[in-house]
Amino acid sequence: MLMQLLKKFRLIECTVVEPSAEEITSYKKLVEEQKRALNGVTFHWQQESIQEFCKTNIDGLKRFHFVSALHSLYYIENKDLDFYLKTILGWTEGKMLIMQGAVNSIFSGLEKGFPTSNPFRSRNLGSKIEDTLKTLGINFETSVIPAECDLTFCFDSDSRDGKLLLDFFLHVVRCGDNGPSQLLKMIKEYLTTEGISYTRNERLYAPVPTQVIIASTSKKNSV
Ligand SMILES: C[S@@+](CC[C@H](N)C(=O)[O-])C[C@H]1O[C@@H](n2cnc3c(N)ncnc32)[C@H](O)[C@@H]1O
Repeated sequence: MLMQLLKKFRLIECTVVEPSAEEITSYKKLVEEQKRALNGVTFHWQQESIQEFCKTNIDGLKRFHFVSALHSLYYIENKDLDFYLKTILGWTEGKMLIMQGAVNSIFSGLEKGFPTSNPFRSRNLGSKIEDTLKTLGINFETSVIPAECDLTFCFDSDSRDGKLLLDFFLHVVRCGDNGPSQLLKMIKEYLTTEGISYTRNERLYAPVPTQVIIASTSKKNSV
């Protein structure tokens, strides 16, 4: 993304908001590896969640021409979404790119199937973000990138990919380490349900479409 932007803008101030120290370390490593290609970019590292950054930048001293939020707004609760989007867009004079799960993805299926299970923390969806932008009177364009996920690996107890995928679905690192729990068994069964997954060439797939939203702000339309 930065390399694409550098084709148009010679100097870029890039603020990275990321709560995980581990992710920041690996991002810094990538930046170091691409030092020459990223010449012209100055990085500012903010090891915090976007919610925390909204407090850090409460006075709006940091302003942006472009905000990229790719699969990173999941953990903002629906009830707080208008506050955070309004705050972020209030600092932005340009575009905000958001990518988030679309309505019929496997994740909404899992939430519906296991509404009271702790592991499935509510993930807000692209459609909820669109509704919030409409309420805020923000102009946006939207589209869906179709994608599917191969679930077959989840049923092979020796598959590393299958284990990682189940961890990802459950939000639990090494969820199968203590043997197959009742919940894990139920989830695996659920993954085979009609309407949740489908079979093709003897493999099991589920839809994981992504909603792509480009919100535009200008002085005229800023919140
Ligand atoms: C699925 S990854 C996406 C990473 C990157 N945007 C991409 O598309 O490759 C989600 C990232 O969001 C970070 N994250 C989780 N909660 C967050 C929050 N509340 N605010 C900002 N980032 C958050 C995670 O640490 C993780 O690095």
